[in-house]
Amino acid sequence: MQNNNRWHILETADQVAVAACRQILDAAEQAIAEHGIFKLVLAGGSTPEKVYRLLALSDANWANWHIYYGDERCLPVDHADRNSLMATQAFLGKVAIPESQIFTILAELGPERAAQQYQQIVADAVPFDMVLLGMGEDGHTASLFPGHQHQEEELAHAVYNSPKPPPERVSISAKALSNTHQLIFLITGANKQEAVKNWRLGLDLPVAAILPENPVDIYIDRAAYKL
Ligand code: 6PG
Repeated sequence: MQNNNRWHILETADQVAVAACRQILDAAEQAIAEHGIFKLVLAGGSTPEKVYRLLALSDANWANWHIYYGDERCLPVDHADRNSLMATQAFLGKVAIPESQIFTILAELGPERAAQQYQQIVADAVPFDMVLLGMGEDGHTASLFPGHQHQEEELAHAVYNSPKPPPERVSISAKALSNTHQLIFLITGANKQEAVKNWRLGLDLPVAAILPENPVDIYIDRAAYKL
């Protein structure tokens, strides 16, 4: 078990969302006070939706927020499974973050072209102020999957043969995701127990390759945290 992980074990997924939302808002205030903007990387999948809905109800200096995506699925922009669609419906479409400050991955262009385009956006953005990540049942995070090989120096990867549909994706690299002041993992549900256990045992999983300088905050519910 890495010694720089802070495990926040809460009873329910709702409590995980409330606690994580609080840390995100605090991080935004701190970043804006320190350097005028808050550079936040959003997580994909379904777990973050509760957090995004709480953020949409919160009061923040939205004009200073800059939004990035940890990964995106190569689907049409309006496809129900797009991470950007969920984030827009739950959060971004409800707050006054300027459109020009929301950096969507153009995953509809396909993995290669979209990764190339995002490479430059990430290069201009790092270090991030905060990165949000989920974790899959196999210990993947963003679209970094076990057994997949990527060029480490890349800031954004084209992903093929994803074991989680759709097969083609774009992901910010472990190196770039780790280049952040704060990082939060959001993990809920009994189906994540095995991966959490293996992570804590020190197995070489994609989640374990996310190593920012500062401690990582893992917000997890009781169902996912098997003693
Ligand atoms: C994706 C996500 C992926 C997700 C995990 C957890 O595009 O699928 O980026 O990494 O975070 O698979 O997904 P759930 O939150 O839906 O369990």
